[in-house]
Amino acid sequence: MKHIITYFALIVLLLFAVNACSDVKEDLSSPTAKLSVHPEGIGSPGSENFHGVTLMSKNWDIKDCQRCHAADYSGGTTGENCLTCHTQPAGPEACNTCHGAFANPERIAPPSDLAGNVETSAPGVGAHSAHLHLNETGPSNSCLTCHDMDTPTDVDFVHGHIDGLPAEMKFGGTANLMGVTPSYNFTDNTCSNTYCHGNFSFKRSDSQVPFPERYYVADEITGSTTPPVWNAGMLSEPGNTTCAAGCHMNPPTGHAPVDEESCESCHYTIVNSEMVIINKLKHINGKVNVFGMEY
Ligand code: HEC
Ligand code: HEC
Ligand code: HEC
Ligand code: HEC
Ligand code: HEC
Repeated sequence: MKHIITYFALIVLLLFAVNACSDVKEDLSSPTAKLSVHPEGIGSPGSENFHGVTLMSKNWDIKDCQRCHAADYSGGTTGENCLTCHTQPAGPEACNTCHGAFANPERIAPPSDLAGNVETSAPGVGAHSAHLHLNETGPSNSCLTCHDMDTPTDVDFVHGHIDGLPAEMKFGGTANLMGVTPSYNFTDNTCSNTYCHGNFSFKRSDSQVPFPERYYVADEITGSTTPPVWNAGMLSEPGNTTCAAGCHMNPPTGHAPVDEESCESCHYTIVNSEMVIINKLKHINGKVNVFGMEY
């Protein structure tokens, strides 16, 4: 009897084992969906998993993509070539991939900003276009007018400059012609102490015109100190300071009183009788430009 029970138990166990094996076999013979390193939608614009959206949460760590998609982004072992869509010579490292106009390599500054905003009220967009593309009153600006672009020497620029928001600010060029360090306030989005927005003083004692006391009613001619708001629209538009308050009055403080629109009669190399700046290199240049002289 004992033997019969043992045999019976063995047979039951065997049956289980065979059954279990055939389960495993079934799983093996009908594989489920292909395993993927990425969530579905990584390559589909419009998906919440599209890499154009999700890279932000990875701090735009494009170096990590090279690990599998090859150093030149041509696909490597993955077979997925980034260059089929990112067609510029630098591939996805082109400057307008993450900021600027994706369809226009000439526009590398926001809009779009890093979060995809395009309206000038977004601080990431702000007055970038006003300074870089629509500027009709002064010398052209580059990123270096406002940004620190130094990166460690052992990494290339693209990888080296990505270290998390906010953007690195450091004013150069026309922004600090008078030697006072300008600054940007990330809380109220104002820009202070820049030469281009009125941080200037010309001294009567330095003047080279005959009888400078005719033109100076104080020891210095100074600009406006009202800090412009970066994301409040063009200076001349309602909602922002006017051009005069954002740069200098017509005429500036300390300047002998003259008709508001008479500037052309003495500053004729800079401005015409319609008050249009005719030579951007002589305006906002850190120098006196009057009676055809420059110093
Ligand atoms: C661990 C390796 C690995 C890393 C790292 C990696 N990928 Fe991939 N990627 C793959 C593989 C493998 C595929 C092929 C499809 C699959 O298996 O998911 C792929 C496919 C893709 C596709 C095409 C998907 C489609 O459906 O068209 C895109 C887009 C993509 N990866 C973007 C990126 C980006 C952007 C990064 C960097 C943030 C990155 N990958 C990092 C391995 C990787
Ligand atoms: C199917 C076409 C396609 C492929 C393949 C593709 N991309 Fe993109 N990628 C895009 C588009 C479209 C955008 C978004 C552009 C925009 O902002 O409008 C984008 C955006 C990006 C961005 C910017 C992300 C951000 O947050 O602004 C990076 C970086 C990038 N891709 C890297 C890669 C890398 C690396 C690969 C290869 C692994 C790759 N892409 C493959 C189409 C593609
Ligand atoms: C007139 C000054 C000025 C110039 C010129 C300028 N920027 Fe900026 N930029 C700013 C300010 C101010 C911010 C910070 C806005 C904030 O976060 O409050 C900024 C932010 C940015 C950001 C971060 C955007 C985001 O999503 O937060 C990027 C990217 C950027 N700038 C790129 C550029 C590039 C590229 C150039 C040159 C082609 C350039 N900028 C020229 C003033 C400037
Ligand atoms: C893979 C995405 C990506 C690419 C490609 C890229 N940038 Fe940026 N860039 C960023 C991010 C993210 C920031 C935000 C600030 C940070 O991380 O310091 C930024 C900020 C900037 C700034 C503001 C100063 C700073 O460092 O904060 C400048 C200027 C700039 N980029 C210029 C460029 C230029 C020029 C190129 C092309 C040679 C380029 N970027 C390519 C992601 C990118
Ligand atoms: C009658 C001649 C005259 C008129 C009109 C005149 N200026 Fe001036 N302006 C001068 C002289 C002279 C100086 C002093 C130059 C020096 O320091 O040697 C000066 C200095 C300046 C400066 C500082 C130096 C420089 O070249 O940037 C500014 C800014 C300025 N004027 C703006 C104006 C504006 C704006 C108007 C019109 C509203 C105007 N001026 C009208 C004669 C004039």
